Amino acid sequence: MKIAGSAALVTGANRGVGEALVQALLARGAARVYAAARDPTALPNFADARVVAVRLDVSQPAQWAEAASVARDLTLLINNAGLSNFGATLQTPDIEATLRAELEVNLFGILHSHRAFAAILGANGGGAIANVLSAAALMNVPLLTSYSISKAAALSLTQAIRASTAAQGTLVMAAILGSVDTRMAKDVPAGVQKVSPAFVAQAILDGIERNEEDIDTDPMALDVRARIARDPKKLERFFARGLKNR
Ligand SMILES: NC(=O)c1ccc[n+]([C@@H]2O[C@H](COP(=O)([O-])OP(=O)(O)OC[C@H]3O[C@@H](n4cnc5c(N)ncnc54)[C@H](OP(=O)(O)O)[C@@H]3O)[C@@H](O)[C@H]2O)c1
Repeated sequence: MKIAGSAALVTGANRGVGEALVQALLARGAARVYAAARDPTALPNFADARVVAVRLDVSQPAQWAEAASVARDLTLLINNAGLSNFGATLQTPDIEATLRAELEVNLFGILHSHRAFAAILGANGGGAIANVLSAAALMNVPLLTSYSISKAAALSLTQAIRASTAAQGTLVMAAILGSVDTRMAKDVPAGVQKVSPAFVAQAILDGIERNEEDIDTDPMALDVRARIARDPKKLERFFARGLKNR
């Protein structure tokens, strides 16, 4: 689908990849961009009349319903908001609470978005949904164990949403990100290459414009995909060694 003329909503638009997505959507001629954030006062000043600030904690179905009552013209939904606890392992005492918190955002947030916006997208011609996922969805990283579980579940949900909206012509994309220079990746070991949020935002919008269902946005995502194709057990053992070396 074309970004020019679209009406898009981006969750977690106040920083990181979400902020970069709003800027990239504006640069490509989106007609309206709903910039959604838990705290709208935390949104940067985008200085563009096409931007509409929306209060949206993605774990709250009632706030999704409010957003849907405002964004009736939506044609592009980008589920970008995410939560990650680097260093949480199965040995972490409160790992269950950590996993539940991550599932609320990374999984149920997307489920709530579907409830709120699938019919609106259908009424507006199908449109597109892009779910911002992670290479950790493809292979559990034990130092990000609960996050990996939540993103793997979100990948499966993405496939389910694709199936359930196929008849109305909605493009449903799984965007796999590797390593991006945002607050979420602040604890990623030095030496791991991180791309900029703007780089990833462009890759996601390029994928939408090419009607792609699955994209790997950056070198690390591509590398993980290639290693899984070559020898998945070798990669699993590689990530497990990170746990042993702590
Ligand atoms: N950075 C990476 O290396 C990397 C790698 C793979 C995938 N990703 C994915 O990329 C996406 C964007 O992350 P980022 O790198 O830009 O990280 P970030 O800078 O930490 O931003 C995370 C965003 O999610 C929002 N958020 C968290 N919980 C929320 C909730 N309950 N409701 C609404 N918004 C919520 C945050 O809002 P607050 O400011 O209110 O907390 C913030 O805007 C995430 O889905 C992440 O999993 C990132």
